Amino acid sequence: MCGIVGYIGPKSVVPVLIDGLKKLEYRGYDSAGVAVAGAAGLRLCRVQGKVAVLEETLAKSPIEGTYGLGHTRWATHGRPSERNAHPHVDCSGDIVVVHNGIIENYLSLKTMLRDEKHEFRTETDTEVIAHLVEKFFKGSLEEAVRAALAVMEGAFAVGAMSVKDPGRIVVAKMGPPLLVGVGEGETIVSSDINPILAHTPHVAFLEDGEMAVIDAAGPRFTDFKGKPIEKKIEKILWNPLMIEKQGFKHFMLKEIFEQPQVVRDTLMGRLSLDQGEVLLDETGLGPDVLRGIRRAVLIACGTSSHAAYVGKYLLESLAGIPADVEFASEYRYRDFILERDALVIVISQSGETADTLAALRAVKSRGAATLAITNAVSSSIAREAGGVLYTHAGPEIGVAATKTFTAQMTALTLIALGLAQAKGASSREGRLEVIEELQRLPHKIEKILGRAAAIEDLAKDFMSFSHFLFLGRWVNFPVALEGALKLKEISYIHAEAYAGGEMKHGPIALIDEKMPTMAIIPKDRVYDKMLSNLAEIKARSGCILAVADEDDKAIGDHVDVVIPIPATHPLLTPFLAVVPLQLFAYYIAAKRGADVDQPRNLAKSVTVE
Ligand code: M6R
Repeated sequence: MCGIVGYIGPKSVVPVLIDGLKKLEYRGYDSAGVAVAGAAGLRLCRVQGKVAVLEETLAKSPIEGTYGLGHTRWATHGRPSERNAHPHVDCSGDIVVVHNGIIENYLSLKTMLRDEKHEFRTETDTEVIAHLVEKFFKGSLEEAVRAALAVMEGAFAVGAMSVKDPGRIVVAKMGPPLLVGVGEGETIVSSDINPILAHTPHVAFLEDGEMAVIDAAGPRFTDFKGKPIEKKIEKILWNPLMIEKQGFKHFMLKEIFEQPQVVRDTLMGRLSLDQGEVLLDETGLGPDVLRGIRRAVLIACGTSSHAAYVGKYLLESLAGIPADVEFASEYRYRDFILERDALVIVISQSGETADTLAALRAVKSRGAATLAITNAVSSSIAREAGGVLYTHAGPEIGVAATKTFTAQMTALTLIALGLAQAKGASSREGRLEVIEELQRLPHKIEKILGRAAAIEDLAKDFMSFSHFLFLGRWVNFPVALEGALKLKEISYIHAEAYAGGEMKHGPIALIDEKMPTMAIIPKDRVYDKMLSNLAEIKARSGCILAVADEDDKAIGDHVDVVIPIPATHPLLTPFLAVVPLQLFAYYIAAKRGADVDQPRNLAKSVTVE
């Protein structure tokens, strides 16, 4: 929800923190701040608003130090304001803390601290950490933080420093991610990999219950009780250029255009064309395990749950097993029933979504076999699931998920094929047809992207509508859900998605000339059914835009606007149909002047409940 960055090293600390915060801004952007320490003591700058506001403020009134912490906030406790912005200080002003997550027992801690005459200045739960560290401080920041952690409950990533124990940053993790980049003579701490890559590819991923104490000599790792830990330092192969816009106006547009490569990269090394087989050994799901799986449960949130829906259809059609999709936020509180032969697939771009992680832990506690699909190497979900299939989408910076959706569908297709081949559920020829078509998808997506200008023109005509309906059936019902979500989250236009056949049960009452319908209607087994649904809309003066096969010459007689996509295997149409919907949402939002990459009220990674 929030972004934390910290730096100790020879570089000028404020620019390093600002650069890091810009890269973390997708996690929260309603206020930001930095604290630096050095010869001049502790200096703070906090603002309401984005990192750019912080940068401007610092340019007018520079502060200097040799090490520091920064924070970009997505409000949970206390509205966005300068006062509630991090870093937070103790009564003396000698200790500062930044925090991502929620301190669940902060009210009782606050009462206790108030009784001990600590003075609170903000509405945040974070401030209790600063006062706790103050309460326990006896000369060692490390020990004081450790004592504070012992009484804190909830999910948190915390960073602290104090001029009373100078030259040191202490960080701790229980829940939200925290990474420590270990460079040559410098250490950078961050909530994700992106700020670190500008300085070093060498990274330690803190686990829950672990701390790092960082000084000029580098990081030292312990558990919350103080026991030293030997951390593995991993080398990350992402290139820092991947997190630049590279000439695109927004990250979201760049990421939409990266989709052909994302499909190629996610397939790479996982297909054996000679054999017509997929290779899933990296997941630990060998043929014997796969053969024994009789049911799949797919758990996710948001866009990842839409990919899960596509996966459900793929698993049913290709692998011939029942598959259910569950919202992680609901499933974790259910009295769910899992058979011994069920495979639970958790899907999360960030690998850190609190609900998905909690659902994973709940199913694991029942002994279920689990597999994660995630884009974040060594994320919490990747580390805790029984097996992992990484989506090789590269960093996704736009808050609205686009390329990771496509990468997740690619990974799910591989899993469905793997299950099909292990169980002999579909013919080799049938599987080969899908595999061959999977490999043609990048080229077909490129073809759609080549027509982006036409979709931009369309956006001009439709940008002023206040409501949209998205319709799809069968494997494209989830694409309708995803198209509506994209439009809602970045343009703030009200959009609803329905399975075509549900229209007549209520939503059709909404149809009039003020509510256009975006229909996904490739030539598949439900084509005629969708045509009937569209006829019902036309009969009620509804305007229809249709994503349809480019060789469907008849569709123009039934709808107002045709958005052509190349024909493909019926099960793979979501890969193509979603692209014009992403572009449509993007261009409408951009034309309405919306903040496309950082839409209001949203954060990229939802690490709190
Ligand atoms: O990181 P995850 O895939 O677990 O995130 C799940 C959702 O929070 C995410 O897909 C969200 O819905 C995005 N805003 C979609 O664009």
